Amino acid sequence: MTVKIAPSILSADFARLGDEVKAIDQAGCDWIHVDVMDGHFVPNLTFGPPIIKAIRSWTAKPFDVHLMINPAQPSIKDYADAGADLITVHAEADSHLDRSLQLIRSLGKKAGVSLNPHTPESVVEYVLDKLDLILVMSVNPGFGGQSFIPAQLDKIAKLKAMIGTRPIEIEVDGGVTAANAGQIIAAGASVLVAGSAVFKSKDYANNIAGLRQS
Ligand code: DX5
Ligand code: ZN
Repeated sequence: MTVKIAPSILSADFARLGDEVKAIDQAGCDWIHVDVMDGHFVPNLTFGPPIIKAIRSWTAKPFDVHLMINPAQPSIKDYADAGADLITVHAEADSHLDRSLQLIRSLGKKAGVSLNPHTPESVVEYVLDKLDLILVMSVNPGFGGQSFIPAQLDKIAKLKAMIGTRPIEIEVDGGVTAANAGQIIAAGASVLVAGSAVFKSKDYANNIAGLRQS
């Protein structure tokens, strides 16, 4: 399977967000990773549906929307309407994960669940058939530029075995670099999120290629 690269626009220049989205598109990314933070579920605040809607026309590539908000369920439809293609909620955020996943799919979007570093893979066992993506947080969510937590490699491998032949992507988010991408992929990841590693220097194409080559 070819690994997909999803740059996180959390590390982009927010004053030029449309241009930045266009630039990572032209640099060869696969998805656009959109980090929504509420200052409550995580200790940082980013943006919501109006900004996502505003940048939607700057690329045709899928918007991979990572909701770090609690509750998530009441605003899932707003993110679908704003242009999300994949909507990922946190297993720790709402009480009724199964219902959130059903709602996302009923809106015609791909459904994802994200697991914080301390959350065991077993929480997804009974919703596997309602999932298109599992997002393994390899840092504590809230900020870009943190270091990868190596214990998550074991979780990725266990999820890979649990998924079996189901068409579910395993996406890894946080501290991904060209130096550790190889072992993350070897553990079973199919999508790499990268904020700092893509936006650290102006040559986004080179930075994306560096991750892909790993
Ligand atoms: C963290 C976000 C990540 C973050 C990754 O809460 O979910 O998507 O932007 O940034 P890096 O790649 O810098 O760790
Ligand atoms: Zn993210």
